[in-house]
Amino acid sequence: MNPCMLAPSIIASDMGRLAEEIAMCEAAGAHWLHVDVMDGHFVPTISVGPLFVEACKRSTRLPLDVHLMLEHPQDHIESFARAGANNLTIHIEACENPLRTIERIHSLGCTAGITLKPATPAASLEPVLPLVDLVLVMSVEPGYSGQKFMEGMIGKVREMRGRLDSLGSRAHLEVDGSINVETLPRMKEAGANIFVAGSAVFKHKEGTEAGVKSLLAQLD
Ligand code: DX5
Ligand code: ZN
Repeated sequence: MNPCMLAPSIIASDMGRLAEEIAMCEAAGAHWLHVDVMDGHFVPTISVGPLFVEACKRSTRLPLDVHLMLEHPQDHIESFARAGANNLTIHIEACENPLRTIERIHSLGCTAGITLKPATPAASLEPVLPLVDLVLVMSVEPGYSGQKFMEGMIGKVREMRGRLDSLGSRAHLEVDGSINVETLPRMKEAGANIFVAGSAVFKHKEGTEAGVKSLLAQLD
């Protein structure tokens, strides 16, 4: 079983104080940093690009987990890899040739993740599961931080856990979307081991460090 890890989603931070926010995550014991890239097409919103990943890289030693909510991700993976991404996760719905894109991510020296929108069935990942290092189950519609948790995604995590186990896969099973002190233990019980959290970290009423620590306390 992979270790349980916390990946704060930096899109929910106070970006005017980016380096400070990242330093607080690191000091409080976060394991990875999650960066949400949104293109205004695959999802309605626009967020950040490779320059932002590069800025994060300069501020931290934490691995950068880059979630590409982009059409044609194959056209952009090289610039994100060069910017310092450690893991690149692509959406199955957005990718014309997922197998080739995953190979390309590996050839650039990154680990490769695959993800799917809440309405996309777990079975759609079957052809790529043997190749990936990470599977991300979204528990909100991709595009925004601060949405309501989709209860139905607990069953999808359980199903994905079963599929990975039956393949003998060592891939991480990550969850993203409204992960907080209440939903994290339920996703963990269902078989997830990496927990992405935006609001529960950066909008915590006692600050970012307290947000990280409150979630880390749920990982044991
Ligand atoms: C949603 C993003 C998430 C989001 C998480 O499109 O992929 O990473 O920032 O934020 P919360 O934890 O607030 O749902
Ligand atoms: Zn994300």
